[in-house]
Amino acid sequence: MAQIGTDIGIAKAFLEAGNVVGIPTETVYGLAANAFDTNAVLTIFQVKNRPAFDPLIVHTHSLDAVAELVTSLPDAARQLAEAFWPGPLTLLLPKHGRIPDLVTSGLPSVAVRIPGHPLTLALLRSLDFPLAAPSANPFGYISPTTARHVADQLGDQVPYILDGGPAQVGLESTIVGFDTEVPTVFRLGGMALEQIERVIGPVSVRTHSTSNPQAPGMLSSHYAPRKPLTLLMPDQKPVQDEPVGALVFQHLLPGIPAEQQYVLSPTGDLTEAAKNLFAYLRALDALDVVRLYAEPLPNVGLGRAINDRLRRASVP
Ligand code: TXA
Ligand code: MG
Repeated sequence: MAQIGTDIGIAKAFLEAGNVVGIPTETVYGLAANAFDTNAVLTIFQVKNRPAFDPLIVHTHSLDAVAELVTSLPDAARQLAEAFWPGPLTLLLPKHGRIPDLVTSGLPSVAVRIPGHPLTLALLRSLDFPLAAPSANPFGYISPTTARHVADQLGDQVPYILDGGPAQVGLESTIVGFDTEVPTVFRLGGMALEQIERVIGPVSVRTHSTSNPQAPGMLSSHYAPRKPLTLLMPDQKPVQDEPVGALVFQHLLPGIPAEQQYVLSPTGDLTEAAKNLFAYLRALDALDVVRLYAEPLPNVGLGRAINDRLRRASVP
């Protein structure tokens, strides 16, 4: 069973020995390994049961360190980096040859992020390599927002989980690419679209799954609980011939016992809702009910990313 602790030195020693380690970030917990070590990166794919065509994000601690991972930094990327790093934002940049092809699934671009968590930033500064890290969940399941979530699902395959408390953002990072004149958002996430557009102007959003997804986080059936989940349409009522659970925004739904419902934010705060989303989906998944219902949120700010996750979770 994984040891859970707050000792950066232990995490560092495991990583330097080529092991995978659970790490906290402000978005979700990651399953980290030395990004320059192909064997260590291979272990990530094995532990997650993740297909090799789904590339990983490389995490580092400073813009100087990013410069060693990429061959160029477009102006728009630099502006976003300066505005929002460390933070819940991932940039797709031309990959430097020193990054193994396994990390990027053979793509010419590498996904890079400086995460905004003090413990993980300190860990990254103490290492002389960057960390490749996907979310620390089995492929296709809900991302973990606590060390306990990681231990529950991957604990027997990971020697150490660095515990940085509950993730403060609670949604995976927003992914932006710069291959076209107008930058493209490939995954809605913890950095709101409106904030990005305030810095670099209009972006295009391409988050729908295709047969050859450029960001496989776009795959429809992703972030899903094990129980079937139905996203309620306006004025749609849950069918209750069997016990059901519900994820609601501000108010309990009539007719379903309160202990089978989770309220994302009683005050209607989208930041609070994002922070609670994955933990509540997990809690609902563990209830003795046969089906889950979720209420869509206002489609602004982080509400867009939350709705995106709920839509994907509702695909069978
Ligand atoms: O917030 C986050 O981004 C978390 C924390 C741990 O940093 N990480 C995360 O990783 O969500 P993961 O692997 O679960 O999702 C990363 C997404 C995947 O959908 C992957 O396809 C996409 O990023 N991606 C990675 N490298 C890419 C590349 N070179 N080109 C296009 N998409 C890429
Ligand atoms: Mg993931």
